[in-house]
Amino acid sequence: MAYPTSVDIIDVGPRDGLQNEKQPVPAAVKIDLIHRLVHAGVRHLEATSFVSPKWVPQMADAPEVMAGIERTPDVIYSVLTPNMKGLESALGSQPGEVVVFGAASEAFSQKNINCSVAESIERFAPVVEAAHAAGVATRGAISCAVGCPYEGDVSADAVAHVARLMKEIGVQRIAVADTIGVGTPRRVQAAMEAALRHYDLAQVSGHFHDTYGQALANTLASLEMGIRVFETSVAGLGGCPYAKGATGNVATEDVVYMLHGMGIETGIDLDRLIDAADAISQFLGRAPNGRVSVAKLKQRVAA
Ligand code: HMG
Ligand code: MG
Repeated sequence: MAYPTSVDIIDVGPRDGLQNEKQPVPAAVKIDLIHRLVHAGVRHLEATSFVSPKWVPQMADAPEVMAGIERTPDVIYSVLTPNMKGLESALGSQPGEVVVFGAASEAFSQKNINCSVAESIERFAPVVEAAHAAGVATRGAISCAVGCPYEGDVSADAVAHVARLMKEIGVQRIAVADTIGVGTPRRVQAAMEAALRHYDLAQVSGHFHDTYGQALANTLASLEMGIRVFETSVAGLGGCPYAKGATGNVATEDVVYMLHGMGIETGIDLDRLIDAADAISQFLGRAPNGRVSVAKLKQRVAA
């Protein structure tokens, strides 16, 4: 088995990371975080989401955040959109990619976007079509691909089912997301295999939360299958407001440290990434939620 020589990281910190913060995070702080990530070499990130401000107040400043970013030409600034209303606002902000977000679990779909899985696909179809018509790429997130906070274990067949529906409406790439971080390597591999029934290897990404400390193991298990795109979050920020108890996404720093240690390129400068993790953590008033940042920041203080 050969690991890939390079991996694409999608940093979801500004969106998945900050959406769950209780304290208001000003748009300027979000924009600064995005600039710092790009400065560290991140070439794809989730900047914000165009969702109902009643459902996710923290993302109400999406247009302001998108307008405030000084764009770097080779960077993809993705946004989440659950419906046409979101897409229409998003297109005014010139996103590089639009992400529709479905789920492998019916209960989570209802709690997160207030509709069934089948209804979500009906809503996504025109979003995907309009995004493509505007020349914008699409990705589909499959939340709760291993376990659901309301239904428990989620089967690989449920993942394959949503992957097929996403493929049918033209979604170009999909993310297999362990939203509540309960997955272990073989279960994650089964979920990946299910997604790969309908998408090519290069089109599938892994999105792991570290709630149970399994995210690096699950990343490695996915790498072993040839998956080479991972969604991670600077400083391990994150959690979904509709998945109670789920802690942050795996820290980008931890994944980058592991990959670089394995000789796998990411194009990211770890020191600058830690600067970004440090800056947002200082704003939030807590230590970064990732082992590598904590260890390296201690070393810096000692030096
Ligand atoms: P709804 O209440 O059924 O929507 O919510 P509606 O169509 O009935 O509209 C109700 C109101 O919301 C109306 O306003 C609409 O205009 C407004 P009112 O007339 O009451 O003033 N509205 C919107 N406003 C702004 N932007 C929009 C929008 N759509 C409707 N796009 C809806 C349905 C999908 C809108 C809602 O449930 C929602 O916004 N959900 C988003 C939840 C969310 O963002 N969750 C986090 C992202 S998913 C995640 O984090 C997991 C992931 O990262 C993977 C992982 O981590 O594992 C992807
Ligand atoms: Mg997430």
